[in-house]
Amino acid sequence: MTTVVWAVANANVALVKYWGRAPGPGHQPAGTSLSLTLEGLASGARVARRPPRAGADRVAWAPPGPVAELGRFVAHARAQLGIEHPLDVVVTSNFPVAAGLASSASAYAALTTALAALATGRPSADRLAALARQGSGSACRSMLGGFVQWRPGDDVGAVTQVAPPEHWPLAVLVAVTAAGPKRVPSREGMRRTRASSPFFEAWLAAGEADLAAVREAVRSRDLPALGAVAERNALRMHATALGADPPLLYWEAATVSVIRQVWRLREGGVPAFFTVDAGPQVKVLCEPGDAERVGRALADVPGVLRVLRSRPGGAPRTVPQPPSWALSGGLSQNLSRDLSWTVGEAV
Ligand code: DP6
Repeated sequence: MTTVVWAVANANVALVKYWGRAPGPGHQPAGTSLSLTLEGLASGARVARRPPRAGADRVAWAPPGPVAELGRFVAHARAQLGIEHPLDVVVTSNFPVAAGLASSASAYAALTTALAALATGRPSADRLAALARQGSGSACRSMLGGFVQWRPGDDVGAVTQVAPPEHWPLAVLVAVTAAGPKRVPSREGMRRTRASSPFFEAWLAAGEADLAAVREAVRSRDLPALGAVAERNALRMHATALGADPPLLYWEAATVSVIRQVWRLREGGVPAFFTVDAGPQVKVLCEPGDAERVGRALADVPGVLRVLRSRPGGAPRTVPQPPSWALSGGLSQNLSRDLSWTVGEAV
C-alpha cells in the first residue's frame, strides 16, 4: 500500500479572468475564464498516511499559509475520494505565496493530484478538476497543461484544454513588485466586488467577447491579438474591483510603472503585453526571442524586486522524489538560474 506521495503542479495566469463566484454552493464561477499554465512556477504537495489511531489529519504550508482552509479541503477530499486513513499533508511553493501569483491554484492542484493517488478507484479528470476547485477556483485550471478554459458547471468538459503547451512556445515574464501577502484575498475581493461594484454585471457581460477573442488568438497564435484582449480583460477586472465599496486596489506604484514600461516596449516595436491578477505582480507575454530584452527592461523598473521567466507548462504529476526546492523549504531563490533574474544582475 502506498503510504507517501509527492505531486507537483504549475501555477497559471488567467488571460480571461475569473473574478466573481456564482451565488450558491459548489464554488462555481460567475463566468468562463481561460488561463495559461506556467512551467516552473510550481507547488509541491506531500501526502502521507497516518496510522488510523492518529485520528486527525495534520496539515501545513511551508512557508506558512491558510491552514484552516487547507484542513477543510483535506477533510472534504478524503470523503470524496474514499481515503479512510488520516493524513499528514505539507504544501510548498517555489514562488511568493498569496501575492497574486496563483500559488493557491498550483498548491491545490498539486494536493488534489497527490490525494488522487491514494484514492479508492481511479477518479476521472473531470472529477478531480471539480475537487481542486473546492480548494481554490483557479486550481481547476492548473489540473491541465497549456491553455485551459473553465466554464461554470460540474458536467464533463467544464474544464478543458484549449491547446497544449507545445502549441505556442510563448515566454511569460513575471515582474515581482512586492513580496508580502496581498491585502485582500481573492475570495473576499470577489465577494465584495459582486456585492458592491456597480460595474460587476457589465464586467461579466464583457467577458464573453474576450473569451471568443482569446480562443481565436490562441488558435491562430496571434500574439498582438491575444495581448490586446489580455490587457483589456485585466484592466476591466481591476476597474470593476476598484468600483467595490470599500474599493479594492491591488496595485503598487511599481505595478503601474511596469505597465508603462510594457507600453514603452511596444512603442519601440517589441510585442510585449501585460496582465495582472489580484496582486501587485505583473505578468508579461512576449516571443521567446524577445524575452531577454523584455526581462531586462522589466528588471530596470524602479520597485521591481525580481523577474521570473516561465513558458507554457504541463499538467500536474506525481513524482518519485520531492523537487529540490521543496526540500530546502523553498522560495524563489531556489529557482534555477535560467528562470530568474535579480535586479541589477547580468542575465
Ligand atoms: C484574479 O482562484 O484564488 O487570479 O476561488 O476564492 O480561491 P478562490 O479564488 P482564486 O482567484 C483567482 C482570481 C484571479 C483571476 C484568475 O485566476 O482567473
